[in-house]
Amino acid sequence: MTQAQQSIQSLGACSSAGISAPVITIDGPSGTGKGTIAGLLATHLGWHLLDSGALYRTLALAARRQGVDLDDNAALGRLAAQVEVQLKGEQVQLDGEDVSPAIRTAEAGADASRVAVHPQVRAALLGWQRDAAVAPGLVADGRDMGSRVFPDAVLKLYLDASPEERAQRRYKQLKDKGMDANLRDLVQALRVRDERDQGRAESPLQVPDGGILVDSTSKSIDEVFAQVLDLARAALASTGV
Ligand code: DC
Repeated sequence: MTQAQQSIQSLGACSSAGISAPVITIDGPSGTGKGTIAGLLATHLGWHLLDSGALYRTLALAARRQGVDLDDNAALGRLAAQVEVQLKGEQVQLDGEDVSPAIRTAEAGADASRVAVHPQVRAALLGWQRDAAVAPGLVADGRDMGSRVFPDAVLKLYLDASPEERAQRRYKQLKDKGMDANLRDLVQALRVRDERDQGRAESPLQVPDGGILVDSTSKSIDEVFAQVLDLARAALASTGV
């Protein structure tokens, strides 16, 4: 969402009475630029933005801090129902504390992927995510936005890129933020994360039914965004939004 409008709520709270606003979903593995593209599209359309990965990252951080086992489905489901998360633009708050830098590390991404395999975690976050679909519309990025969370989205995109290029992009991102990074470790970590995200039983990463594949390998962000914008305009025109 333009998350400033979102009130503090527990991650597991589900008040969704149905999705009443148009949604565009952007799924794909990490390092494809989907977060950047989702942000540009949301700004362009004047819609809200949901970075669903931030929710999994924040829950994983809360689990680490509270000593909750990252492999314990039930305990993580309970934790998701307790913690309060607020998304405010780029800033993410956990129980009132700004945890934005802490959830953006490579370790936090790997932890997020681990907690995300659990059915009780995914069930707890479902309503939270659907509640983000409010007028005038929502751009949602993640892994299962089109396949599970918003199956009736007006447009479902799947962004992909070669593993080598994705690792290079992540390396540059981390370096630009002044964080420690090692390319070989990143390639290996990406491979592990891809396998886990694609291989899990619950809402695996996949091209959703009716999804459109956009390959961003060797393309600039501007080129990818131009392609995505054309697809969005066509989808919105054809659905009368
Ligand atoms: O998009 P990201 O790198 O911030 O996501 C971190 C992890 O969270 C990712 O490896 C898998 C999980 N995730 C998920 O399972 N479903 C989503 N919709 C978003 C993220």
